[in-house]
Amino acid sequence: AGIDAGPSGPYAVQFKKIARSTADTVVVPEGYSVDVLFAAGDAVVPGATPFTGTFLTSGETEKIAGGNHDGMAFFELPGVDPNKGGLLAINHEAPDLKILIASASYDRNTPDLEQRKIVLSSVGVSVIEIELKADGKWGVKANSTYNKRYTGNTEYRVSGPAASTVGPKVVGTLNNCSSGRTPWGTYLTCEETSENYLIPADSTKNSGYGWVVEIDPRGELADLPVKRTALGRFDHENIVYLLGSDNSIAFYMGDDGTPGCIYKFIPSAKFDPNNRAANANLLDLGTLYAAKFNPDGTGQWVALVQGQNGLVTGAMDPGNETQGEQPDTKIDFNAQADVLVNTKAAARVAGATLMDRPEWITVGPDKTFYCTLTNNGGRKVVHKANPRVQNLHGHIVKWTEASGSPTATTFSWEVFLLAGDPSIAKENLAGNIDGDTFSSPDGLYVDPQGRLWVQTDMNLGASGDPFRNMVDVFGNNSMYYVDPVTKKSSRFLAGPKGCEITGITHTPDLKTFFINIQHPDQGAWPSNVQDNKLPPRSATVVVRRIDGKPVGA
Ligand code: FEO
Ligand code: CA
Ligand code: CA
Ligand code: CA
Repeated sequence: AGIDAGPSGPYAVQFKKIARSTADTVVVPEGYSVDVLFAAGDAVVPGATPFTGTFLTSGETEKIAGGNHDGMAFFELPGVDPNKGGLLAINHEAPDLKILIASASYDRNTPDLEQRKIVLSSVGVSVIEIELKADGKWGVKANSTYNKRYTGNTEYRVSGPAASTVGPKVVGTLNNCSSGRTPWGTYLTCEETSENYLIPADSTKNSGYGWVVEIDPRGELADLPVKRTALGRFDHENIVYLLGSDNSIAFYMGDDGTPGCIYKFIPSAKFDPNNRAANANLLDLGTLYAAKFNPDGTGQWVALVQGQNGLVTGAMDPGNETQGEQPDTKIDFNAQADVLVNTKAAARVAGATLMDRPEWITVGPDKTFYCTLTNNGGRKVVHKANPRVQNLHGHIVKWTEASGSPTATTFSWEVFLLAGDPSIAKENLAGNIDGDTFSSPDGLYVDPQGRLWVQTDMNLGASGDPFRNMVDVFGNNSMYYVDPVTKKSSRFLAGPKGCEITGITHTPDLKTFFINIQHPDQGAWPSNVQDNKLPPRSATVVVRRIDGKPVGA
């Protein structure tokens, strides 16, 4: 019958945890409902033609939902009860090709111009206005003028110190993995790779990608969207901010590289809570840092500033030291633009710690940060913060800034949890999860009640692959509640076949959670619940309690 999860006290949460699932559907606890809100191919721009089984032209696909839903954020609208309506900004990490192009006619290495446009239309960001309808279900307001697409074909302004190198504009935002938001109500979409799979036809610069891109979902701030180069160029996963009581602010970011570092950007100016427009260029001027985790549990934020910490002409990049000896290679940091375009190398030169693929970072109301290190099967040299060789299942670290301050340059840290399961892993990979075990934590979020939610993206492998028995042990990729104090894990939601679970946001009253189901491509979801015959599609789902109370209350 399941058990209640979580203790009483400040982190109280109660739900009947679900069993591991291999079903081709989204499973939620007893007493909860789950509904599909927004799937790849759905209409976005007013008047758009949705995908209903017939392939569309690039002009049409430019107006519909892209694929591989990932990070997202909910935004309030002036004059609208935020518990009953608002905007969702949703990342599309990659195309859902099955709804775009007949596979027989498509070779990703030699797309024709129309195919290239179609594929690039399916990444980027959707902004949709949503509302809680009279029947208790959420829906997209089809004719809202807020409904908009930002794609791999549209233009982005470039700002910050590397704009001189990149150029004033770039066509396309690509590989939009996870995301974040600012306290002034803009959306930050994170480009996860800098070397891209399809370079837009009219762009010659790879350095146009791998940035954080700022979008105003309300469309009020001029000159947006903007690629903010001051935040560095790497495999951006997500971004989260810490706001001080004096309105000083810092933004924290992971580099999902194998391995990659953890970063922090402190704007030179403080956040202005009284004048939205005054924050419009806050992300252009400031200092970028990378994290150095010392073995004794202390840490430093090392400034990535040209001329400091070895970032000079003729610097020696130590390379991937987690693989053992690597030949150093020379790299010139002649100007700050060189540091920002080659941020990964700058972090290595400056002595930052190479982590096992930092994915999401989150910070709770108690100012404790958590970061998922999803896995790194190639690690040969361990470090206290990355303590396992061949780290197949990943782990989570936590840290607090000195004095809880966003402008701190030191922190203290510990390993929070080692993922894995004793039944399939060698001893060093068994992990230490109490309760429902999982592999490869990725999405991560502490909600305003201080409750920690973990979403997984384990490698499902192919038939005969050693990864394949991960599903036998853990079930389909799922979302877990992990108690921040007892570390006890309880499965809250399980996805359909082949998917990863990623993306989480909610209404302010916590009664509606929005979760993304990405690439459910080993089954027929959601057509098997929507009663249509469409291919499997990534989608945003709505999770609510049937009795109308807050999720987990
Ligand atoms: Fe797009 Fe690192 O997940
Ligand atoms: Ca993904
Ligand atoms: Ca991810
Ligand atoms: Ca991942």
